[in-house]
Amino acid sequence: MSAPDPGPVPAPAPAPAPAPAPARIPVMVPWLGEEEARAAADAVLSGWVAQGPRVAEFERAFADRVGAEHGIAVSSCTSALHLALIALELGPGDEVAVPSLSFIATANAVRYVGARPVFADVEEATGNLTPATVDAVRTPRTKAVLAVHQGGVPADVHALRAACAEWDLPLVEDAACGIGATVGGKSVGHGALLAAWSFHPRKVITTGEGGMLTTDDARWAERLRRLREHGMNVSAAQRHASGKPIVESYLEVGYNYRMTDIQAAVGLVQLGKLDAIVARRRALAARYTELLAEIPGLRPVRDPDYGQGNFQSYWVLPAEDFPVGRDELLARLSDAGISARRGIMASHLEPAYAGHGAAPLPATERISRGSLILPLFHTMTEAEQDRVVAALREAAGG
Ligand SMILES: Cc1ncc(COP(=O)(O)O)c(C=O)c1O
Repeated sequence: MSAPDPGPVPAPAPAPAPAPAPARIPVMVPWLGEEEARAAADAVLSGWVAQGPRVAEFERAFADRVGAEHGIAVSSCTSALHLALIALELGPGDEVAVPSLSFIATANAVRYVGARPVFADVEEATGNLTPATVDAVRTPRTKAVLAVHQGGVPADVHALRAACAEWDLPLVEDAACGIGATVGGKSVGHGALLAAWSFHPRKVITTGEGGMLTTDDARWAERLRRLREHGMNVSAAQRHASGKPIVESYLEVGYNYRMTDIQAAVGLVQLGKLDAIVARRRALAARYTELLAEIPGLRPVRDPDYGQGNFQSYWVLPAEDFPVGRDELLARLSDAGISARRGIMASHLEPAYAGHGAAPLPATERISRGSLILPLFHTMTEAEQDRVVAALREAAGG
């Protein structure tokens, strides 16, 4: 007798679905929404998309916000820096003291006018130039100082302005990262001879790409407006608004460094959100600092005693004997689904500056080699922040 047919073999129970991986935490996300989208759409629908009335409005609002007399909107902070150095009439044979610890555009702008960037070291606590670090590289050929408010930590402009006044040197401020930071309770940019700002999406407020120059000097403002628009004596917007034929002339060789009205429309909305963005960044930074205090050997960036930062970049500097090196730490964070970044670059170590020469820059090299920038953005949740801290704690050995 044959055995009874056992019937169809039952299918094995499906394995439980793996838990979805938590979403990757970006290092930075701009806080953009419906309002910016509508403002950009309104600019498009108005039919005037190049530099026009919205750029003029953004310039006024931005200058008011930072306490400057004039704002000149441009295509980027890099073009703003270039124009600032042209306004100072710098050229071949001149030296400009700059931090190497900065995005390379700071030093490059000096090269654009044919002058020589001379790299000065920074203070380890702030990542910024000080009168002493500038003095160490000053020569009779030094014609200007270009200080950066690095990562949104304000430079001590009162001390730098006093030193520059004594040396009879103009001080230009690279405030690419500085909007919303303060010195002595006043906005970065207040009282600046010339300050250059960025609206790249990695910055605190954004227009996609874009930049601004601010100054209290009406003559410089007039020339800077002309230089950003091909050296024309009258802007295209003014010619259009006049309703009469105006034949323009070109007073000097200028550039096309204009911002569009679409960007300015977005910028106006972003400017209205600035206080909320800075408050949120500062709150998240304070929370990081509190949580990271439990991990020995990780020194976070802090406010200096003369001002308050906007934490555009929240960087930490692991001690030399931290259990894992910086690049390994970045790799472990990445494996945990967290995008962090190396710290601020040292421009003098890049191939573009090979053979350029620089004095010893120990603090610059230490910060650049050792530090990393942690995720921090307006919509970041505490749970996301806890994930970053947990990954760092694990890397530190529990
Ligand atoms: C200190 C500093 N200067 C200049 C720039 C250049 O800004 P932009 O991209 O608007 O030209 C940056 C951008 O990262 C920066 O961080």
